[in-house]
Amino acid sequence: MVATGLFITLEGGEGVGKSTAAAGLAATLRAEGREVVLTREPGGTKGAEAIRGLLMNQEIPLDPLAQTMLHFAARADHVAHSIRPALERGAIVVCDRFYDSTMAYQAYGQGVALEHIRALIALVGLKPDITFLLEASEFEVKARLAARASGSDRYEEMDEAFFTRVREGFLAIAEAEPTRFIRIDASHAPEQVVALLRQALRNKAGC
Ligand code: TMP
Repeated sequence: MVATGLFITLEGGEGVGKSTAAAGLAATLRAEGREVVLTREPGGTKGAEAIRGLLMNQEIPLDPLAQTMLHFAARADHVAHSIRPALERGAIVVCDRFYDSTMAYQAYGQGVALEHIRALIALVGLKPDITFLLEASEFEVKARLAARASGSDRYEEMDEAFFTRVREGFLAIAEAEPTRFIRIDASHAPEQVVALLRQALRNKAGC
């Protein structure tokens, strides 16, 4: 079946406010009467959330290529059982991270070959219509991470150099696909970031 909905993803490093922005955008679109599926990666289905548990647990050592494949295993289930059916019935899907995160974290951050990840992307066979790259200053990000109550996971434990590679990776990915990506200054207050997203969506997709 042909997908008729709209597939929106939000990307960025840790602490840029992606999850809050995704929830705010979903709420805004729902208030306008649209069907919205708000979801996240890794996760979004029972199977993918179980894989997330494994991926986030830093007590279980996993080779970067194994992490890559687990991210894509979770994604395959998420796409098959949540995202694709939602798009087929015409819903807007707002997804907190998608395959660009694997490119940024596992390829640029952890050194997995770009072509391996490109091959897995082709296998999944679903590309976002619009991807927002949220960016905030290092100062802002540090303040937000310090304010977080939750414990750290596998990736939050990484060093500064890793996060610099991830940030540069996201920029390179966005520059390579300027028609899909929209860069958003996420250093504003959450409601302003949501307003920026809503306006950008209107400009880009006309809805
Ligand atoms: P988050 O729910 O806070 O965004 O956490 C997910 C973590 O997993 C975050 O540190 C980014 C990382 N991640 C990857 O390394 N590769 C991926 O493909 C995805 C989706 C997330």
